[in-house]
Amino acid sequence: MANPMKILVIGSGGREHALIWKLASSPRVSKLYCAPGNAGISQLATCVPIPATDLASLKTFAEREAVDLTVVGPEAPLALGIADLFRESKLKVFGPTKNAAKIESSKAFAKNLMMRQGIPTADARTFESVRLALDYLEQCSLPIVVKADGLAQGKGVVVARTVQDAKDAVVNMLEHRAFGDAGRRVVIEDCLEGEELTLMAFADGKTVVPMLAAQDHKRLGEGDTGPNTGGMGAYAPAPVATPALRYAIMRDVLHPAIEGLSRVGSPFFGVLYAGLMVKDGTPYVLEFNARFGDPETQVVLPLLKTDLAEVLEAVVEHRLDQIHLEWSEESAVCVVLASGGYPGKYEQGLPIAGLQDVSGQDRVAVFHAGTAWKGEDVVTAGGRVLGITAWGSSLRAAHDRAYEAGRCIKFEGQYCRTDIAGRVLT
Ligand code: AMP
Ligand code: GLY
Repeated sequence: MANPMKILVIGSGGREHALIWKLASSPRVSKLYCAPGNAGISQLATCVPIPATDLASLKTFAEREAVDLTVVGPEAPLALGIADLFRESKLKVFGPTKNAAKIESSKAFAKNLMMRQGIPTADARTFESVRLALDYLEQCSLPIVVKADGLAQGKGVVVARTVQDAKDAVVNMLEHRAFGDAGRRVVIEDCLEGEELTLMAFADGKTVVPMLAAQDHKRLGEGDTGPNTGGMGAYAPAPVATPALRYAIMRDVLHPAIEGLSRVGSPFFGVLYAGLMVKDGTPYVLEFNARFGDPETQVVLPLLKTDLAEVLEAVVEHRLDQIHLEWSEESAVCVVLASGGYPGKYEQGLPIAGLQDVSGQDRVAVFHAGTAWKGEDVVTAGGRVLGITAWGSSLRAAHDRAYEAGRCIKFEGQYCRTDIAGRVLT
């Protein structure tokens, strides 16, 4: 048997709780740390109060505790170069280098890569000048999509139905710097219609191993209305992802992207996330992420039978070709419980009741996102508070179990969408 591993997970959301929960079941793992973590994570791992973007302190911690593997959850530390720093220090890290992570941290970089590799995506142009962008909008057909080039926590995308809305978005980003430097450039692209789908894959620079396809629910309101959020729920596997479609995504999207990054001297190690719009059976890329998705991870990992620690290690050691992922035949649904007011202003520090009633329920996991301890109590500490994941023999069974478990949990002002997975169930 291989050596036991001490693993550090970086981040504090539902995705990181799901990663820790899965790793906690691995016989390979002897110790779990999370920086900074949350109340739920602290029940499975030792939480250390280092922010995810404090790279120097994270490195010092990993060296001091002789951490065997560091797994990076969110995009911000990747964009800052955490993987480069750890590798230079001979620390094993799961996640791409700063240059490879540009596939997420710069939409203009990603578009150029897609163009060069012939990856299907919406036609787009990049602008730094407000005047040129506004002139261009005069001749575009509607709707049109305006995106901040850099990282904006999923909020830097405006699907504009009128020229005025598109112009407002451009002025907001380029002139008013609504997203800071992330909006120094904007990408204006054609609007795609169809069915959204996420396919995440492990990659070690050469080999690409896909996970189950999932579907996120990005909008706040029922029936995909209202503002974009970090994600209000998800399900997997997504029935729209037939074997033929998965094959097409591998051949036309994931393999060419991984090859393209290697070709420019930035091989990709970690999870490559393809956010897709499927139209008439063809997958078009909306975005790439350089990490596990949130909340997609909360529905994909409960269905993974293979030891996650083995998979992560194989990626870091460039021997992913030795790994075969095994999946449960079941389906999973995650319903996010959010603070009232999210994604705008919301209150924090509100006590959460009912967690005990759900813990121990069969095939249910409550993944904490924005939670913290206040004395003995778990209180709200973020916009997305909890993700209730349940799994079962069908999407219907998983859906019903997740909503039933969600009803046990109470905090003031709580909000959830009641139609997660609704479209595929009707
Ligand atoms: P992104 O962060 O680029 O994935 O964009 C966030 C959301 O905006 C996506 O999940 C889509 O719902 C929507 N979106 C982005 N790009 C497009 C596009 N070209 N056409 C239609 N919708 C889009
Ligand atoms: N679910 C969207 C994301 O992780 O960016």
